[in-house]
Amino acid sequence: MADSYDLVVIGAGPGGYVAAIRAAQLGMKVACVEKRATLGGTCLNVGCIPSKALLSSSEKFAETQDHLKEIGVDVGSVKLNLKQMMANKASVVEGLTGGVAFLFKKNKIDWKTGTAVVKSATEVEVTPAKGKKELLKTERILVATGSEPTPLPGLEIDEKKVVTSTGALEIAKVPGHLVVIGGGVIGLEMASVWSRLGAKVTVVEFLDRIVPGMDGEIAKKFQRVLQKQGIEFKLGTKVTASKKTKTGVSLTAEPAKGGDAETINADVVLVAIGRRPFTEGLGLDKVGVKMDERGFIDVDADFETNVEGIFAIGDVIKGPMLAHKAEEDGVAAVETMAGQSGHVDYNLVPGIVYTWPEVASIGKTEEQLKEAGVEYKAGSFPFSANPRAKSVGMTEGFVKILADKKTDAVLGAHIMGPEAGNLIHEVAAVMAFGGSAEDIGRICHGHPTLAEAVKEAGLAVNKAAIHM
Ligand code: FAD
Ligand code: NAI
Repeated sequence: MADSYDLVVIGAGPGGYVAAIRAAQLGMKVACVEKRATLGGTCLNVGCIPSKALLSSSEKFAETQDHLKEIGVDVGSVKLNLKQMMANKASVVEGLTGGVAFLFKKNKIDWKTGTAVVKSATEVEVTPAKGKKELLKTERILVATGSEPTPLPGLEIDEKKVVTSTGALEIAKVPGHLVVIGGGVIGLEMASVWSRLGAKVTVVEFLDRIVPGMDGEIAKKFQRVLQKQGIEFKLGTKVTASKKTKTGVSLTAEPAKGGDAETINADVVLVAIGRRPFTEGLGLDKVGVKMDERGFIDVDADFETNVEGIFAIGDVIKGPMLAHKAEEDGVAAVETMAGQSGHVDYNLVPGIVYTWPEVASIGKTEEQLKEAGVEYKAGSFPFSANPRAKSVGMTEGFVKILADKKTDAVLGAHIMGPEAGNLIHEVAAVMAFGGSAEDIGRICHGHPTLAEAVKEAGLAVNKAAIHM
């Protein structure tokens, strides 16, 4: 007899596993099907977590090599042990994926390892790598199958010489020259890792700016800082052809707007031009689930597709492709199923680039406000005037807060600097409660902390910054 559930979740990434846990907490009988051998999806296995482990290790390496002497810590010559760095990354991943397995057990969620196919709105077939197929009967299905790298025609991925982010997290030897196609989040994080470890890195970006979607002023200054670190940029450039050579890859690139082509020789090429929703082999077309022209599953405000009983969340639906967004989707979807009023405020999903310095963003950019014709005022404060940043030698960057011209309500914040990814959450909380720039400026902040730069930017919006 087929097992019967209240909810079958397909995919155990941050969207799926969090939804499964919340659904179990709400009293549902839940199964979660995952084709990988481990839980955690892209994020824990080949995304957020391994990339942050390498960013942290490479940052420590670069700091020890280049900066410790300046502050009076002489460690002699510094040597890279890449094998150990990779082993550390693997153990971080193992610890966290194991942690999700523990949470599944604790919440009595049935973890089914295998590939899922949706047979009907109430049936999911699971095919394990070995052994017999299984049919799960269920009241509802939640699709959380995530995304995959967008391929670039003409560049065949072999995960050795031409890699996606997955291969870029596994390079066995520091490449002489790494060419990164795409100046977005993956491109810049991976460029930072390998540049710190000694590779020459060139970023080829189609547009005339990096990190499109982020605040323009931040993007410009961010590029300048990365250039100072040795990363080269070829903006407004497209790769038109590639040829694998004995030692690497020979790329042909030309200006996006037309012009003379040039050859770029690379040892390794990283293709990081975005990700696309993944629904291959799921059988959704057969049961009539609607998708848009880019392959994203269409859902309503309750995350339900056009087929009653089939829901979708995370990277496979529209919105920012971020782990925390997928988690929020998952919680809101299952709470709504349970009769509660699940909700996600997509204006308040922070975006963070974990480079050095970090870049973090929430709410609207200046470009978006201008385009929408919203009257706003801006206040900025540099970390070079923040005592804590000065005392720890991390003065690169600034905090910018945007507020409504009349009401002073905070509309957005953009931070480049030390701990930007943590600092942004103060502004997120203020925005969630409908607070103003003056509110941020009047909150008593500990001294000396980096967070005082946020307070001062809040004050600066109304021309009341003290230390500037
Ligand atoms: P996924 O995490 O992609 O999980 C989907 C799961 O479904 C996968 O495990 C897949 O194996 C499984 N699956 C697919 N089809 C089937 C099937 N038919 N049957 C069974 N299982 C199936 N986001 C951040 O917020 N912060 C970061 O720092 C960050 N860093 C990143 C770094 C890299 C290199 C990459 C690639 C991504 C990063 N992301 C980051 C993005 C983040 O990983 C995704 O937004 C997030 O994982 C999406 O979660 P999800 O649950 O929707 O899908
Ligand atoms: P992205 O959308 O961030 O950046 C892709 C870049 O490639 C863009 O700048 C785009 O203009 C450029 N591009 C597109 N086609 C091109 C071409 N043919 N030639 C040259 N450049 C081209 O996508 P990315 O970096 O691949 O990351 C995918 C997703 O993963 C992101 O959207 C992000 O949500 C998520 N992610 C998040 C991280 C974080 O939160 N820190 C870290 C890594 C990934």
